[in-house]
Amino acid sequence: MEKFVVKGGACLEGTVSISGAKNAAVAILPAAIVSDGPCVLQNVPKIGDVEIITRIMTQIGVKVSFAADNTLEIDSSAIETHVVPQDLSRHMRASYYFLGALLSKFNKSVVSLPGGCNLGARPIDQHLKAFSALGCDVSVEYGMIKVACRNGLRGTHVFFDTVSVGATINSILAAVKAEGRTVLENVAKEPHIVDLANFLNSMGADIRGAGTDVIKINGVSYLRGTTYTIIPDQIEAGTYMAAAAATGGDVVITNVIPKHLESISSRLKRIGAEVIEYDESVRVRRSGPVISTNIRTMPHPGFPTDMQPQFAVLLSLSDGTSIITESIWDNRFKYVDELRRMGVRISVTDKVAVVEGIRKINGARVKATDLRAGAALIIAGLVAEGETTVEDIYHIDRGYEDIATKLGNLGADIKRVDIE
Ligand code: EPU
Repeated sequence: MEKFVVKGGACLEGTVSISGAKNAAVAILPAAIVSDGPCVLQNVPKIGDVEIITRIMTQIGVKVSFAADNTLEIDSSAIETHVVPQDLSRHMRASYYFLGALLSKFNKSVVSLPGGCNLGARPIDQHLKAFSALGCDVSVEYGMIKVACRNGLRGTHVFFDTVSVGATINSILAAVKAEGRTVLENVAKEPHIVDLANFLNSMGADIRGAGTDVIKINGVSYLRGTTYTIIPDQIEAGTYMAAAAATGGDVVITNVIPKHLESISSRLKRIGAEVIEYDESVRVRRSGPVISTNIRTMPHPGFPTDMQPQFAVLLSLSDGTSIITESIWDNRFKYVDELRRMGVRISVTDKVAVVEGIRKINGARVKATDLRAGAALIIAGLVAEGETTVEDIYHIDRGYEDIATKLGNLGADIKRVDIE
C-alpha cells in the first residue's frame, strides 16, 4: 500500500508530456482480439486499468507483450474461451468491452457485471439492448452477463435511450463483423469513440460517422492485423491544465490534440487563466485571480464529467461563488467530504454543488474516493498550506501514468511513500 505526500506552495512550471488515453486504450485492447491478425499498439498508457485488461487477455489465451516504449503487441490467434473469469473483470468497468469483442469472435460471451469507480447507479441496459437487437439472447445469472447469438450477429438499427460511451463502444465491437449494416443513433461522440472506429477501420472495418450522433457500420468478415497509435488522454491533459492554473503556474502540456481540450480550455479562460494552443501542445498560465464561474457537465463536446472534481478545487480558489451541476452521474460529489477536511467550502444538494471561494486551503490527511477525485485531492494538496497525505491512491494509479514523477518534474513537492 502506498500514499502520496504533497507539500503545497510550488507554482508548476515547465513541460509535461501526456500519455495515451485511458478510455481509448481500455476499448482498443479488447477490440484487438477481434482482429484476425496480430496488432501492435503504440502510446499505450502504463496504468492500472490497462494492466488489468492485459491480465484478462492473458487469462483467456491472448498473447500480450508490453515493451518499455509503451508499445503493446497483441496476438489473439490462440484465444481459448469466450468466458472472462470473474476475479479480475469484476474490479473494472471496462471489462464489459470483452462482451462485445468476444461476441464478435465467438458469437457468444460471458463476463461478470462490471466494477469500477462508484459514481452512482451504472446500468448497462443500453449495451444489452444493442446485443438483443443484433440477434442475441441476453441473461444475467449469478453476477455474470451471458450473451449468445445462435444464428450469427445480424446488422440492425439501434436508437439509444441515453447517450452512453460504453454502450456505443460495445455496440461497435459487436457489430463490426455482423452480417449486413448496423445503424447506431444517439451515440456518444467522445474522442475515444472516434479512436476505436479509426483503429478498427485500420484493420479493414467499415465504420462511418464516429464523432457524430449516428454511426453506420457495414459488417466485414475479416479484419487484418494493424499497427495503431492511441490518442493522447484528454482528461490527463485537462488535469495538468487545471493544476497549472490552480498553482498560478506556467506549463506547456505536450502530446495533446488541442481540439479535444476545447471545453476545458474555454472554462480555464473564463476562470482567468491564459491558454495558448499550438499544433500538438497547449500552454496554460495564470497570474491574476481565479474568477468564479458555473459549470455543467455534458457528454462530449460539452464539459467532461471526468474534469469536474479538479475544477471544484480550482473554483474553491476563486473570489466568489460557483455552481457545478453534474448531469452525467448520480453521485459524483463524494470527494467533497475529503476536500472539506482541507477547509474547502462546498455544499452539495443532489447533483448540484455550490462552491464558495476561499483564499486558503489547508493540508490534511485525505483519501481518494475514485480516480478523478484522487487527482483533485492532489491538486488541492499542491495549493494547500502545509502537507497533504492522499491515501487509497490505487484509484489514481488506475488512470494516471507516473503522476508523481510528472508533477515533480514541474516543480511540485510530491512523493510516493509506502504505508507501513
Ligand atoms: N447509462 C445508462 N444505461 C447504460 C449505460 C449508461 O443509463 O446502459 C447511463 C449512466 O448511468 C450514466 C450515463 O448513461 O448516467 C453515461 O454513462 P456512460 O455509459 O457514457 O459511461 P461509461 O461508459 O460507463 C465512460 C468513462 C467514464 C466517464 C463516462 C462519461 C470509460 C471506461 N469510462 O463511462 O470515465 O465518466 O464515460 O464520459 O470510458 C473516468 O475515466 O474517470 C471515468 C469514470
